[in-house]
Amino acid sequence: MGEKMYKIAVIPGDGTGPEVIREGLKVLEAAGKIYKFAYETKVFDFSGERYLKTGKVVEDKDVGELKKYSAIYLGAVGHPDVKPGILETGVLLKLRFALDQYINLRPVKLYNPAFCPLKDKKAEDIDFVVVRENSEGLYKGMGEFKDKGTKDEVAIQISYNTRKGVERCIRYAFDYCRKRNKGRKLTLCGKTNVLTYAWDLWQRTFNEVAKEYPDIKTDYAHVDATCMWFVKNPEWFDVIVTDNMFGDIITDLGAMIQGGMGIAAGGNINPQGVSMFEPIGGSTPKYTGKNVINPLAAICAAGMMLETLGEEKAGRAIEDAVIKVVSTKLRSLAAGKMGYSTMEVGDLVAENL
Ligand code: IPM
Ligand code: MN
Repeated sequence: MGEKMYKIAVIPGDGTGPEVIREGLKVLEAAGKIYKFAYETKVFDFSGERYLKTGKVVEDKDVGELKKYSAIYLGAVGHPDVKPGILETGVLLKLRFALDQYINLRPVKLYNPAFCPLKDKKAEDIDFVVVRENSEGLYKGMGEFKDKGTKDEVAIQISYNTRKGVERCIRYAFDYCRKRNKGRKLTLCGKTNVLTYAWDLWQRTFNEVAKEYPDIKTDYAHVDATCMWFVKNPEWFDVIVTDNMFGDIITDLGAMIQGGMGIAAGGNINPQGVSMFEPIGGSTPKYTGKNVINPLAAICAAGMMLETLGEEKAGRAIEDAVIKVVSTKLRSLAAGKMGYSTMEVGDLVAENL
């Protein structure tokens, strides 16, 4: 029936990654039947286990292969026996950079106020999207040691911001804000009062691009104040645009106010290329193999993937089913406390499509 055949590269990864991806694929299959889209999947084993056996992470030829796919669906990276940084840089950041996924799109939406740690917040009070720059800044890995290991040691870590990189991110955020058509407000989150090179460039670029979007209100908040507002007045935000490091930090806080890591999904987007969708929580080794981890973040990531592929109806249906399950079934969003197993939560979402 389906006219298009999507090719989805699946990277289950480490820890609880494979468990949550399995539920995401279950929901995807159910959605495909109802909304009549066809797809094929291929599993790629980029993981800590593979690294321990072969010493390999993602190589350039793997990137070439992945470029043939419509999208990538990723579980988690991180393995207790692998030194921190190796898999993060070798798999996750390697893919983000090599596939030029320059946007990290992270919706922060409260589906059930009962799971919000903030007092007296309604579902509609927490509904914003963070557009995180995903290819530059402090993540560029630039810097050096001077006199390493001595008493005079200096470690330099550079935030690398290009006009082109900043502008494409800001432009994406304005377009996204317009398309979302909710508050029609874009907030630049930065640190202009201290980081006077990087944020000068961001602020100037923001102001210039804003002129092309007279229908979008603009705002600015320092990153520390943004954290304060997330807790105090999250209803003030519609779309936020920020750099890579600040985006990383504020979206963990965002995940907590929307109910926790168990529900937070993100998309690493290359608008002209191959995008990658993932739950934003980690590989959580302590829950691995126990069938207790919350698969909803991975399921929501699958929904985002469908929307980006152009299957908006199916994507929305997945979100609606998640809302239903979260508001009528689950006792908690935390691993082991949901009142259902990982697999049962996947079943519930699939049944509610
Ligand atoms: C995230 C993660 C990654 C990041 C890590 C695992 C490299 O925290 O996706 O937010 O810092 O971007
Ligand atoms: Mn993070």
